[in-house]
Amino acid sequence: MISLQDLTVGQVSGMIAAAVFVVQFLVPIALPVILLGLLRPRSAAVTESAVSWSVIGRYLHSSLWPIILRTDSAATFSACKSALFMSFFKTFMLVLIAIAAIVTPLGLYEGIVAEPVSEASAFHYIKDTSAMGYGTPPRDTNNTWSRLCGAFLLVPCPNDDNKATVIDNKSMVSVDYRDEWYSSKVPQKVIDVFQSGASGFAESMSSLFDIQYRSYIKSVIDDNKKGPLIDNGTARTIGNYQPLSSILLNDAIMPVEGLIVDMKNGGIGFRNHSAPVLKQYGSTWSEDLLFIVPDTVCVDTNLTLDFLIPRTGSEGLLARNGILKPSITDRGGFIDLNKTYPRWQIDDFQENPNLWYRAYRAAWLRNAYSMAYMNVTNLSNETTGVKAFAYLNSEMNKTFPLYYPNNETTSGWLAIDPQSLTVSTSFGQYLEGTKGLSNKSTVGNQTTEYKFDTKIPIYPNPFNINITQWSSIDTLCRGQGGGDLANITHIVAKCGVLNGAPRRKDGSASLMFDPGSAWSMSMYTCMSTAKATIKTVKFRFNGTNDDMTGLEVLSLVDKTYPNKESQPLWGVENTEMYLKDGGPLWGLVSEEKAKTLNLSTVRKESLYLPGRDSSMGWQNLPGADFASIALGMAYKTGMSTKGVDYSGQSNLAMFKKWQELSRTPASSAKILNLVWTDLAANMVVGTKSLAPGQDSKRKRDDVTNESSKTPPVTSYTRRVKYHYAYGIPAFLALVLTVGAFTTTLFFVFFSGAKPSTMRTFLQHTSAGRFLTSQSGISGHAQPQTVYEGNALPSDGGYSDTPTNIWVKGAGKRRFTLGAEGWTRIVQEVPGYEAKGGSTVAYAPIPNPTRY
Ligand SMILES: *[C@@H]1O[C@H](CO)[C@@H](O)[C@H](O)[C@H]1NC(C)=O
Ligand SMILES: *[C@@H]1O[C@H](CO)[C@@H](O)[C@H](O)[C@H]1NC(C)=O
Ligand SMILES: *[C@@H]1O[C@H](CO)[C@@H](O)[C@H](O)[C@H]1NC(C)=O
Ligand SMILES: *[C@@H]1O[C@H](CO)[C@@H](O)[C@H](O)[C@H]1NC(C)=O
Ligand SMILES: *[C@@H]1O[C@H](CO)[C@@H](O)[C@H](O)[C@H]1NC(C)=O
Ligand SMILES: *[C@@H]1O[C@H](CO)[C@@H](O)[C@H](O)[C@H]1NC(C)=O
Ligand SMILES: *[C@@H]1O[C@H](CO)[C@@H](O)[C@H](O)[C@H]1NC(C)=O
Ligand SMILES: *[C@@H]1O[C@H](CO)[C@@H](O)[C@H](O)[C@H]1NC(C)=O
Ligand SMILES: *[C@@H]1O[C@H](CO)[C@@H](O)[C@H](O)[C@H]1NC(C)=O
Ligand SMILES: *[C@@H]1O[C@H](CO)[C@@H](O)[C@H](O)[C@H]1NC(C)=O
Ligand SMILES: *[C@@H]1O[C@H](CO)[C@@H](O)[C@H](O)[C@H]1NC(C)=O
Ligand SMILES: *[C@@H]1O[C@H](CO)[C@@H](O)[C@H](O)[C@H]1NC(C)=O
Repeated sequence: MISLQDLTVGQVSGMIAAAVFVVQFLVPIALPVILLGLLRPRSAAVTESAVSWSVIGRYLHSSLWPIILRTDSAATFSACKSALFMSFFKTFMLVLIAIAAIVTPLGLYEGIVAEPVSEASAFHYIKDTSAMGYGTPPRDTNNTWSRLCGAFLLVPCPNDDNKATVIDNKSMVSVDYRDEWYSSKVPQKVIDVFQSGASGFAESMSSLFDIQYRSYIKSVIDDNKKGPLIDNGTARTIGNYQPLSSILLNDAIMPVEGLIVDMKNGGIGFRNHSAPVLKQYGSTWSEDLLFIVPDTVCVDTNLTLDFLIPRTGSEGLLARNGILKPSITDRGGFIDLNKTYPRWQIDDFQENPNLWYRAYRAAWLRNAYSMAYMNVTNLSNETTGVKAFAYLNSEMNKTFPLYYPNNETTSGWLAIDPQSLTVSTSFGQYLEGTKGLSNKSTVGNQTTEYKFDTKIPIYPNPFNINITQWSSIDTLCRGQGGGDLANITHIVAKCGVLNGAPRRKDGSASLMFDPGSAWSMSMYTCMSTAKATIKTVKFRFNGTNDDMTGLEVLSLVDKTYPNKESQPLWGVENTEMYLKDGGPLWGLVSEEKAKTLNLSTVRKESLYLPGRDSSMGWQNLPGADFASIALGMAYKTGMSTKGVDYSGQSNLAMFKKWQELSRTPASSAKILNLVWTDLAANMVVGTKSLAPGQDSKRKRDDVTNESSKTPPVTSYTRRVKYHYAYGIPAFLALVLTVGAFTTTLFFVFFSGAKPSTMRTFLQHTSAGRFLTSQSGISGHAQPQTVYEGNALPSDGGYSDTPTNIWVKGAGKRRFTLGAEGWTRIVQEVPGYEAKGGSTVAYAPIPNPTRY
């Protein structure tokens, strides 16, 4: 049932127009009937004056009755061609106009359209009412940045005010302080340099120092008297990671308190949310924001981990973590391994970090060491001169068991679980359990013997592959270690193995771990880093004025630059400090300020963040640390019990998502990017805001032109709009009307269709004049004809007497019409055939002046 609410204004107007049309159609049918009724109350014949008959004739003939009754004036087909044409044209026009009247309003609709002019608007802070906003502590108004360098002993940081003599050679580290205590303060001139670049962009652009930890605590580090007191023993702010809410499964670009979180592709943008004054129909605007996005590449090792789900209880006893008879299957990882060692060949880390090659190196090394461990092949031996890969004991789909001959799963499997996805930075862990167990343990000079069975190693490990080799893979993949210098070359990096969520070997998409079912896990090596970039975000604000429910991200694209010069200039501290002691600061810098410090600068769309494996709770430089901290956490997925469980074990929806994404190396990379994004979103906030607040107080001189730096805001308004297709009938009618009008003018000016001619024709076709002329010609006085007034008819023809004179004279003569016999009284004019049956055609007598 369609109710009025379902109709548009246009449809209602169309219906009204249709109703008006019907009424306009019915009234001309009804009214002549009433007139007829009024004229002849009793008898059939009616006597009226000639004038009245003119009026009545016009009334009746212009109604629809001639058409309905098919009388003379509707006998269009028998009329002359001009009359026929004009008659049809008029009908066509009337129908067209009627259709236009009904159809035209149907095209009307109301639309929300942008105002043509954008205006600068005052922005105000808006609160996030979601869990993320609710849980975020208020910003520390005294937020002080702190920077502490040194692995074991505190050493002065680059560009700070601490003074000490540091001796750091292979044998010893010593630091000799000249001050009484170590200051963690970052000098203002350093902060200024790394804030200088953002001011070259829009007001919304964040710098390194506009990133804060979402949650923080105060700390006083007592460093066991090994070094000087920090900050003379006063407390300082340090970061604290306590997850608020996981938004990983949202698959949207969403604003949360302090951030724009891109859960579609990974990445966070920094923005303390503010909005212009709410407009009734909303408003949109664009901002350039600093984003930090993860960048991950995964490479297939071409080995899979296959296992069974125990069928019986006794099988279950042999399984570990519900995994029975796990084995490695060679899907080309061993047999097709490239025999050439992939050498380090990356020179410009910023231009081309070649993440794929790094991840490939990790996969290659892991496979090669695994082969050596299992004696599938040999390693080169300089003493004997034997080359590597002298033999290769494998074939496609060959399985290498990771269980003992009694079908018992090896230990060292504790981390892998069928119902989870795991990411680990230890490349050799999957072979841990195959070493066998010693039943002896030695503590000091006391050896204890245990009673459990000694397991013989499953693989001989003839080349003594141990933790040294496995952990070297990590350094070789990341391209940095603690002994490298903190500079632009060494980017934040994390490498590891991603064991995909298991999939059934029968190819079905089932998530059910049915007893006896066979499962397979892909093993990928992944390499992740993070980069800072600038993105253009389009916002819409349409909701309530005070909170963020009405803030929406419409689009998120990389900022485009017209030329190389307009690209941002990134600066990174160029230090003599080892990465084990600390990472460098980075940020958008201005050309002049960059010269005041020892910086490496690059002009690029994005900067791969420099840094090392950072840890939380040490210094307060979230912008420099958080990307690496979040990467470190992402590479412990499924391995660490702290924080949010991203393995999917405690969230079946996540597990399903991981199962789908871990099918290919490329989509597996997205897993790590999304996990990083969720971790980072819970870890940091941006404090740069367009709203006047603490930020602008700091730069009081900027306040005056603050509004000019806010982005132009496009407001929306309600407008009547039109679907032009509905306008076709009206347009056609307009064209025809214009045509008719032009033709009219033509005839008026060139063809004598003047008003006087029209008058003549009107008088000659007027019923009253017919009657008076007829009576004049025949000389018959009609039975009921009464002569009234003084003026006698001047002549019997079609008088051209002006209407006012005719009305007073001949027009007053009375005639009786409608009576059956009357027509026969009238003498037929010779030479004019009577047409039709019952009525006599009143043929006009030629007017000598005209015809
Ligand atoms: C900020 O620092 C001042 C002086 O150091 C102190 O009095 C004030 O309580 C601090 N405010 C907060 C919120 O910690
Ligand atoms: C390290 O430095 C100390 C102090 O200068 C010196 O005594 C020692 O020999 C040095 N060791 C090496 C390996 O250079
Ligand atoms: C350092 O702390 C000591 C003891 O609390 C105090 O006496 C001294 O004035 C402080 N020094 C500075 C520079 O604040
Ligand atoms: C804002 O919200 C109103 C009501 O929900 C809606 O009609 C309007 O289209 C929205 N404005 C924009 C620009 O989408
Ligand atoms: C695994 O196979 C893919 C596709 O053939 C190849 O690109 C990749 O390099 C291989 N991985 C290793 C470690 O050889
Ligand atoms: C093996 O690796 C080397 C160097 O990494 C490369 O040049 C060569 O093309 C690779 N061979 C194959 C078959 O991929
Ligand atoms: C390793 O494999 C090679 C070739 O198959 C074989 O000659 C050698 O004895 C094996 N070594 C061990 C310790 O099993
Ligand atoms: C090289 O071969 C010799 C002789 O077989 C052996 O003693 C040595 O341990 C081997 N070296 C390595 C690094 O495997
Ligand atoms: C191990 O399992 C296989 C079947 O998968 C079975 O044939 C064999 O007897 C089992 N071995 C032991 C020692 O249970
Ligand atoms: C180690 O053994 C020696 C002699 O056997 C004994 O004197 C010493 O106390 C032992 N040390 C420990 C830590 O048990
Ligand atoms: C690992 O093996 C190397 C030789 O390949 C050896 O020098 C090192 O001590 C071993 N490390 C461990 C922890 O066993
Ligand atoms: C960074 O340090 C490394 C040594 O760790 C050096 O090779 C590289 O050239 C340095 N990069 C720059 C840009 O100075």
